[in-house]
Amino acid sequence: MSAAPTTTTPETGTGVFSRTRARISERTLRTDRWWIPPAITVLGLAAFVIYATVRSYARDHYWVADYHYLTPFYSPCLSTACVEGSSHFGTPFGDLPAILPLGFVVLPFLLGFRLTCYYYRKAYYRAVWFSPPACAVAEPHAKYTGETKLPLIIQNAHRYFFYVAVVVSVINTYDAAVAFHGADGGFGFGLGNIVLWVNVILLWAYTLSCHSCRHIAGGRLKHFSAHPVRYWFWTQVSKLNTRHMALAWTTLGTLVLTDFYVMLVASEKISDLRFIN
Ligand code: FES
Repeated sequence: MSAAPTTTTPETGTGVFSRTRARISERTLRTDRWWIPPAITVLGLAAFVIYATVRSYARDHYWVADYHYLTPFYSPCLSTACVEGSSHFGTPFGDLPAILPLGFVVLPFLLGFRLTCYYYRKAYYRAVWFSPPACAVAEPHAKYTGETKLPLIIQNAHRYFFYVAVVVSVINTYDAAVAFHGADGGFGFGLGNIVLWVNVILLWAYTLSCHSCRHIAGGRLKHFSAHPVRYWFWTQVSKLNTRHMALAWTTLGTLVLTDFYVMLVASEKISDLRFIN
């Protein structure tokens, strides 16, 4: 009979280190490549954060004056430092120090919305904090305090970030609408319009598929039969909600692609493909 595995974990603690859990010296008994999904998640999130940070501080090539294309990373642009024409909602803020990106009003809320998203929590709790990194793989932390203390208690504010995200989606929709602008003035339509609208539609799909939105639509009701409109809305949101993870990743991609396209056109590296004017 083989000897029982010994433990290298502390004698006391919570979670996988509690006295009542099986004592095994190996971190996991899994033999598959369980680390691949968290590794891909880390790479994907890091690539987005690096790109978004660099572009947000670039202060260049975010507005195409001829066609009124504005990248979502700079919307709304509310500073006098914004290039002429890009401030669709005025310039209540003066010039900004270089430490602040021109989209500083909206970026903290967008970041808060994504960071507190129920899907992203799952992703980065596993991939970044290893809490735990995968099913049946022990986490390195000896304690688990949940989302009851700072900073994780902020996760409970997700619903409020959702409200702001709806406002931001409305602003992005407005930006996409005013982008039907031709080089000679009047109506215009080009590939950039398609890029902007695909991004906006997917952003709406991601925002409306939010778990908080689903609860706002159908939560706290005793009888759906007495609330047919809310029931219909909840049904539609629930369908979208099943694709929330896919939409979370897709919209990171469309945000980057939209910004990248606007940057290329604004810097005259490429010309926008025009269909009308
Ligand atoms: S749960 Fe993901 S955005 Fe709300």
